[in-house]
Amino acid sequence: MSKPTIFLAILLVITLSACKGTHQQTTKSILIEANGKKPTLLRQPYLQMVRPTTATITWKTDTVAKKCQVVFYEVNKTEKTVATGTLVNHEGNKFNEVVIKNLKPKTIYYYSIYSNGYLLASGKDYYFETSPNNTKTAFNFYALGDIGDVLPKSFAKEPANRITELKLKPDFGIGLGDIVYPKGESSMYDNQLFKPFEKVFKNTPFYPVVGNHDWQSDPEKNFEKEWALPGNEHYFSFTYSNTLFIGLDSHNGGLYNREEQVAWLKETLKDQKVKYDWIIVYLHHNGKTCTYKKDYEHVMNLYQVFTSNNVDLVLNGHAHTYERLKPFDANGNVDVNASIDHSSYGHLKDRFISITIGAGGKLNENWHADPTNEKNCKDGNIVAHAEHVPSFGVFSIDGKTLKLNAYNSFTGEIFDTFTIEK
Ligand SMILES: [Fe+2]
Repeated sequence: MSKPTIFLAILLVITLSACKGTHQQTTKSILIEANGKKPTLLRQPYLQMVRPTTATITWKTDTVAKKCQVVFYEVNKTEKTVATGTLVNHEGNKFNEVVIKNLKPKTIYYYSIYSNGYLLASGKDYYFETSPNNTKTAFNFYALGDIGDVLPKSFAKEPANRITELKLKPDFGIGLGDIVYPKGESSMYDNQLFKPFEKVFKNTPFYPVVGNHDWQSDPEKNFEKEWALPGNEHYFSFTYSNTLFIGLDSHNGGLYNREEQVAWLKETLKDQKVKYDWIIVYLHHNGKTCTYKKDYEHVMNLYQVFTSNNVDLVLNGHAHTYERLKPFDANGNVDVNASIDHSSYGHLKDRFISITIGAGGKLNENWHADPTNEKNCKDGNIVAHAEHVPSFGVFSIDGKTLKLNAYNSFTGEIFDTFTIEK
């Protein structure tokens, strides 16, 4: 090989990119040198912000590591890349966070994690798939709220196990608030959320919103440190294929920074609504409901914004049960025509469907819904399907078709389903 060819070959094999504490190196032979004490892995890696060309992987060690690295490779390829991350000292435990860049869209990558140069986790379950950079890809995601109850009461491991058993693996998950109990403390996250969900989180990104219990400890020191979410991490949007997702912070039912948040919501919808086939809003508190929770006025005040901006679904937690409502208009009224089939809809122009999926890790033991919730509700005809069971939802979107399967977290059986075909 002549000298210029060797130089070119080296250039091709090695690429370096430096960014805010992260750099990457691609090479055929990786040598990671161990240095100092081997830290113990306290929290398995979890995925955040898996976008078309980037992914964030975080894990927790018992001691402060001097260095954290991820080695990753594209499926069926041999060339490997090392990405070096940053260390965040939080809650007396140590967060290792690596942001990977320059990835290919809709591509699977396997990864291994290293702290101080010691391999801490690796294997067939450690992978991520970047999101697509087009609006044609079919996808699915899971949703549940009110998850990490205090042990031993919590049944969070049941939905987590059922999610890992799904025939079609979800591309990501969304959390509908009250992520850990009793007060959203960081010290409760490992046992009550990350341990039961570790098999899910290591290869499926999760995007939660904050709930009233999460607000009982300063989110800045807890919720925001546990997660890497878009924007200010309280209200944010992200897209996946042909769908726009909007997460809101409903605080104690009154909306965090209400004026700013609502202005942001309107602006985001105005700019984005024409670009996407589906718009899904999620937040912790319900608006109108027939569950044991009250109707939250500040959420109902958004109905006009939802119906005039093509919002299709509004998902919430808060009530520890499952309730799917009939399509609402701007005033929260439903069409009472008895001939409407509430398991299959056409294009719901100027209407949206509101669903409570709040029995993620706890069920209200003192309350029992009747099958339609009607006797619990002054406006009983608004319910399409209610069932008081530990549950989570899986939504599939393929072009102009959206389908929900609601699963019983203990039996794995589907107890409610509906489709919208635009
Ligand atoms: Fe709540």
